[in-house]
Amino acid sequence: MTSPTILFAGIDEPGLHKLDVYRRRGGYEAMRKVLTSMTPAEVTDELMASGLRGRGGAGFPSGKKISFIPKADVDKYLVCNADESEPGTFKDRELMQKCPHMLIEGMVIAAYAAGANRSFIYIRGEYAEQADIIDAALVEAEQAGLLGDDILGSGFGLSLVLHRGAGAYICGEETGLLDSLEGKRGNPRLKPPFPANQGLYQGPTVINNVETLMTMPHIIQMGGAEYAKIGVENSSGTKLVSVSGNVQRPGNYEIELGMPSREIIYDLAGGPPEGREVKFWFPGGSSSPVLTKDDLDIPYDFDSLAKAKSMLGSGAIIVVDDSVPVVSVALKLAKFYKHESCGKCTPCREGTRWTVSMLERVDQGLATPMDLDIMASVQEQIIGNCLCVLGDAMAMPIGSMVAKFRDEFEAHIEAARGRNEWAGEGPADADPVLIQGATGA
Ligand SMILES: Cc1cc2nc3c(=O)[nH]c(=O)nc-3n(C[C@H](O)[C@H](O)[C@H](O)COP(=O)(O)O)c2cc1C
Ligand code: SF4
Repeated sequence: MTSPTILFAGIDEPGLHKLDVYRRRGGYEAMRKVLTSMTPAEVTDELMASGLRGRGGAGFPSGKKISFIPKADVDKYLVCNADESEPGTFKDRELMQKCPHMLIEGMVIAAYAAGANRSFIYIRGEYAEQADIIDAALVEAEQAGLLGDDILGSGFGLSLVLHRGAGAYICGEETGLLDSLEGKRGNPRLKPPFPANQGLYQGPTVINNVETLMTMPHIIQMGGAEYAKIGVENSSGTKLVSVSGNVQRPGNYEIELGMPSREIIYDLAGGPPEGREVKFWFPGGSSSPVLTKDDLDIPYDFDSLAKAKSMLGSGAIIVVDDSVPVVSVALKLAKFYKHESCGKCTPCREGTRWTVSMLERVDQGLATPMDLDIMASVQEQIIGNCLCVLGDAMAMPIGSMVAKFRDEFEAHIEAARGRNEWAGEGPADADPVLIQGATGA
């Protein structure tokens, strides 16, 4: 299946990050069309007709999100989520690095539709190089009258500020991001109220991912109905997929939604190294429940992956081959989420800590098969019981690994226990307090 190329069309053209090259390729024409011949409601209608769903993780319909913004005459905001902190995800980085003006154009279009005159790009601190590229593009756009007051003489004005984060995963969660942008510690807020009603500085706010915003100029140029013809029902358009892990050609690929996952992993990314086979894979970043080699023919789209009890998430496929122990992946993942938990709510703060402790016991041969049941039950108790979904983001993949590779977890414990006994150590070394705490005794 060959996919149409939309976001990546001409992406490697030298100098595309510069305004003159971008304009020569038709850049800012969608914005001109919007500002000179469309009403905000017409822009929102086109986005709705396109069926575009957010590319940041939750897959919420983008036109609908803008339609939720109240019409009242108050300060409204548009925020671009460029935190790209989900492990395995690196598509926004390439987009911003190679074509920053496409992001600025998409933001003007979205801001116009939402009636927002102030906007921000929140970029992760580690993306220093990309931030510098965006900064330079902002200067060019302002000097050319493509940002600021009265853009292209349309009467519409937009300020755009680039804000660099300091490297916290939780600042990718939209309300944690808003707090961080306001200068506070980046802790998620209780929802409702949702950002559309009370977001940045308590004002109505649209928050969108980089890829989502960069798709908007193309939708305007093609027309929403035409864009909706690409992809499959409920998953229209193309998607940038970051493929990493045990594949021969890791990288970002633009695919038409609905493409068989096997084609992405094998035909595009080259599959696992010679002599190896896929053991399991994360379809939508490290937060997604893992799928196995039996699931490779699942179409890569929102509904099909949800039906398989996983998710498309940020569109990052991480492939793990049969040379890698599942326990090591689970432990690495749990340590990441434990480190990144903001600590605001108990199931996540304590659950991530317990999970790391239990996985370390598994890894060291100090656990028993019953501990695996406890660990699975801890994951169940986290899911749906946290303030934001960071807790779920650990519990879902860990729970899926324990469920799908239970035999390997048990064999891992046995093998490590054997090594301990041979070395003169054993389960007697296990920390009894840990066991009591885990069982609630
Ligand atoms: C823990 C956590 C981390 C997140 N990190 C990101 C991120 O780095 N980038 C992003 O676009 N969305 C991230 N999201 C999703 C955002 O909360 C939000 O749904 C998204 O920015 C909305 O944009 P979209 O509708 O265009 O997808 C994260 C969510 C959670 C719960
Ligand atoms: S789920 Fe975790 S990251 Fe989210 S608010 Fe609770 S403690 Fe913080």
